[in-house]
Amino acid sequence: MTEPLVHLQHVSRVYEMGRLQVVALRDVDVAIQSGEFVAVLGPSGSGKSTLMHIVGCLDRPTSGQYTLAGTPVAALDDDRLAALRSRAIGFVFQSYNLLARTNALENVAAPLLYQGVSRRERYRRARAALERLGLGDRVDHSPAELSGGQQQRVAIARALVTDPALILADEPTGNLASDQGAEVLSLFRELHSAGRTIVLITHDQEVAAAAGRQIHIRDGSIAAGEIAA
Ligand SMILES: Nc1ncnc2c1ncn2[C@@H]1O[C@H](COP(=O)(O)OP(=O)(O)O)[C@@H](O)[C@H]1O
Ligand SMILES: [Mg+2]
Repeated sequence: MTEPLVHLQHVSRVYEMGRLQVVALRDVDVAIQSGEFVAVLGPSGSGKSTLMHIVGCLDRPTSGQYTLAGTPVAALDDDRLAALRSRAIGFVFQSYNLLARTNALENVAAPLLYQGVSRRERYRRARAALERLGLGDRVDHSPAELSGGQQQRVAIARALVTDPALILADEPTGNLASDQGAEVLSLFRELHSAGRTIVLITHDQEVAAAAGRQIHIRDGSIAAGEIAA
């Protein structure tokens, strides 16, 4: 097998709260190959967001090793880690996290700013991403002028615009009505068919069923039998 795109080995994450320690992840092993569509499924408080933050290079393990696209993240200082994150990962959040006073086109173009892409090229790529997601006629709309499902599609366009190795989505349908949630999931399936690697984090079994493989997490541990090495 080739080197996994996402590879966690014996990863733990302990939060220090004064004298109290919360073990949010405990000796976690996860391997995700390029091109996979994986759901991380677990109840509230099981460690899903902590895992997402580590996989997304927003946080680092307390112990253990995380390797993203062949790069051990422990070897990177914060600036290099941020650079790897912006190059390799597209994030989709439950609450969309769009800039409120900014139209769809500017929202989608924003990640390219940090990569030094020219203004003209930023808008060209942002427009193309919005058109791919069926929002070509909404480029001038602000988030408040869009439905929840449309806002999430803008967020997905923003995640795709940098052509990242990995799309990382934390409860992306959590705020959506069921028909709009189903639309977002079928969009992820389409992106997966087109070769995208997707990690979808959810507490909802029905949502997780959209993925090709499920990783079950409980009390900070991956359930036995779900470890793909
Ligand atoms: N910043 C933090 N400080 C202290 N404890 C935290 C912090 N973030 C999460 N936790 C704790 O870690 C555990 C896992 O949380 P989290 O990863 O948010 O789970 P999930 O996303 O599955 O709901 C929970 O017990 C939570 O209370
Ligand atoms: Mg969470």
